[in-house]
Amino acid sequence: MGFDGADDCAVVRLGQGRLLLQTVDFFTPVVDDPYQFGQIAAANSLSDIYAMGGKPIFALNIAAFPIKDLPKKILVDILQGGADKAKEAGITIAGGHSIDDKEPKYGLVVTGEIKESDLITNAAAKPGNILILTKPLGTGIISTAIKKEIAPQEVIDQAVESMTALNSAAADLMLKYKAASATDVTGFGLLGHLGEMCRASRVSAKVEFGKVNFLKDVKRLAQDGIIPDGTRRNLDYAAGFTSFTPSISEVQRLMLADAQTSGGLLISIDPERADEYLKEFNGSSRISAFIIGKIIPRAKKLIYISG
Ligand code: CO
Ligand code: CO
Ligand code: CO
Repeated sequence: MGFDGADDCAVVRLGQGRLLLQTVDFFTPVVDDPYQFGQIAAANSLSDIYAMGGKPIFALNIAAFPIKDLPKKILVDILQGGADKAKEAGITIAGGHSIDDKEPKYGLVVTGEIKESDLITNAAAKPGNILILTKPLGTGIISTAIKKEIAPQEVIDQAVESMTALNSAAADLMLKYKAASATDVTGFGLLGHLGEMCRASRVSAKVEFGKVNFLKDVKRLAQDGIIPDGTRRNLDYAAGFTSFTPSISEVQRLMLADAQTSGGLLISIDPERADEYLKEFNGSSRISAFIIGKIIPRAKKLIYISG
């Protein structure tokens, strides 16, 4: 696939209608617990395969670690978290590479596959489609609160549960209910990734702020000024293609732009199948998916946010 649509994976034709999917992601710790960090990094890396409707086949580790300055047990725990998450996804980690580095970093190279007729890109959203998001927002704001050591334990627990959750069920149901288009919500936030989908699909989107779910305490933390730099940069960028109703406050705009780690899938789907998708997903998942708005014909701005 070309570079125009900024899609989640590299896609290579293997012949006979089969496609190879390839992706790589790694980052610095977003939580203090090394095992949970490994789980989150692996779930995040796998997510790009799921965002295209694909099935992972196997993965490789990428790790950076200050081997002279930190106990080796921490690295072992990070890798164990990744291995357990890969196992949950039904794949093995077949190898990898690590380097000595000041700050720990971890992630996976993931290889996946999909039938060409099943491939879901971010370039096929149609006016009239409903927009579904499969995880609440706010992990960037909460990760910043964790770094400042002001996040209550129950808030951390809820964010970790969301970030470690695989997007595999969300992907299976996209194929079952024939989603038109999808991407996963990660570093560029909801506005950034929705903007990419709209640009690639030549459409616009309407989102109701009141329909968007956030993790516990995100609003309070954002009001207290706990905003990651990446989230501020995301809003600066998204402001160029997003129209906000004046009643949407600066804090609410930042919440919508929050840089996510291991976020949910953003799915564009025929309105006749959106409710069935939600019913089946929410009946089987601990995390609830929800409708945030709809796709409209291409308008002056890519995104319109109402209250
Ligand atoms: Co992605
Ligand atoms: Co990615
Ligand atoms: Co090597």
